[in-house]
Amino acid sequence: MLRLKEDDRKAIWDELGRILENYSTAVETWPVTPELNPEKIRAMLAPCDFLHPVDAVEALQLAANGLKDYQVHTPHPRYFGLFNPAPTTMGIVADALVAGFNPQLAAWSHSPFAAEVEQHLVRAIGSRFGYSPSAVDGVFASGGMEANHTAILAALTNRFPDFATKGLRSLDAQPVFYCSSESHHSFLKAARLCGLGMDCLRHIEIDAQLRMRPEALHKAIVHDTENNFAPFLVVGTAGTTNAGIIDPLPALADVAANHNLWYHVDAAWGGGAAFVPELQSLLNGIERADSITFDAHKWLSVPMGAGLFLTRHNTILDRTFRVAAAYMPKDAAGLDIVDPHLHSMQWSRRFIGLKVFLSLLAAGWEGYAEAIRHQTRMGVVLREGLARAGWELVNETPLPVVCFAKPGATAEEHQQMVSKIVRSGKSWISTALLGGKRTVLRACVTNYRTQESDVAALIGDISESS
Ligand SMILES: Cc1ncc(COP(=O)(O)O)c(C=O)c1O
Repeated sequence: MLRLKEDDRKAIWDELGRILENYSTAVETWPVTPELNPEKIRAMLAPCDFLHPVDAVEALQLAANGLKDYQVHTPHPRYFGLFNPAPTTMGIVADALVAGFNPQLAAWSHSPFAAEVEQHLVRAIGSRFGYSPSAVDGVFASGGMEANHTAILAALTNRFPDFATKGLRSLDAQPVFYCSSESHHSFLKAARLCGLGMDCLRHIEIDAQLRMRPEALHKAIVHDTENNFAPFLVVGTAGTTNAGIIDPLPALADVAANHNLWYHVDAAWGGGAAFVPELQSLLNGIERADSITFDAHKWLSVPMGAGLFLTRHNTILDRTFRVAAAYMPKDAAGLDIVDPHLHSMQWSRRFIGLKVFLSLLAAGWEGYAEAIRHQTRMGVVLREGLARAGWELVNETPLPVVCFAKPGATAEEHQQMVSKIVRSGKSWISTALLGGKRTVLRACVTNYRTQESDVAALIGDISESS
């Protein structure tokens, strides 16, 4: 039953191509948001008892219909959301190719082409961030969460050489690390996963522009050191999730260097600025980071999940993850290669890099620069339109995420506006809690297909909701 006949396979490929092509054009005409009705979905799934095999094309159509009716259509040009882009065609093709060939990226010798493509990308993308291609190392990950988790493990390994073998219990002092209070919540989760616990994450005060205060960072490190804690890592954010804020990266690099701490920059989304010549200077100082998180499934618009951890220290991943296992293939012994599982949290691993490689190969640096430039311009159009319509603009960033408020409106009223817009299915926006204090509306241009007419429609939807 698993091995289908050639004609059946061809019918499935044809149907899949038809579904995907239809989706890429028709999605613009559908509501952005689904009906949220668990009973209906469960009723749709109830006949799937796995006792009576279903025709393969019908099975495919069932899944496609389920996805069509029950998902927020993040590839929709009026999805102004959480850094979830429309996937590139080459990215979709790459994921299908990978599923078909199913390369195993644990051992280099099992998938030499895949392993070399990923290292080629590590060097190419690392260079965009100012790393020297001869020193850069890195690994593809499921997403920003895993890349940030990797950063904490690398920083612990760097600061405490016994950490890898003896663990946290062998340390004399409790390790602590530092992010701004606007940093991504993945650091809290990663602190738990590393066995540090969430209290080890010190949330440093921000200024009026929501950027981490370097002097507050310095004071917190001094205070912790005097109180017998062991600081080991400073994290700057280049493009916060809430408001697209870029921390003062060079000043944070200075503080980290003065205290001899690992410096990581979470550029999961904002790192896209490195692909546009006139935006690159926004990331000045990132080249001094010991490591960087960058998510290709955000501004490079490849299908999820494609995170990337980059570092300018080419032994740290080895020291963090190397575990010897006698059963692993030795076919490449003696060659100048690295087995990917020795540099990664994952063991068996999907060929994540292909969707980035094919998308970049087909679009080129300039294709990406143009797409990101376009979205940045749509952000400006959105800002200007909202200001003209009487909304208060709350965040200051050159990146296309706009936080805004109705003068005098409460948090609850802002939430009601969002609910009304989302329920209408016309567009998707959210609220953001800025600085832990103020709830505002948030709209982010995250799709290379979003046009001025979409932005104008969004402003109309927002005005109607208020
Ligand atoms: C700044 C930042 N870092 C990390 C993450 C986590 O990335 P992922 O969802 O790919 O795990 C996000 C997600 O939006 C983010 O905005």
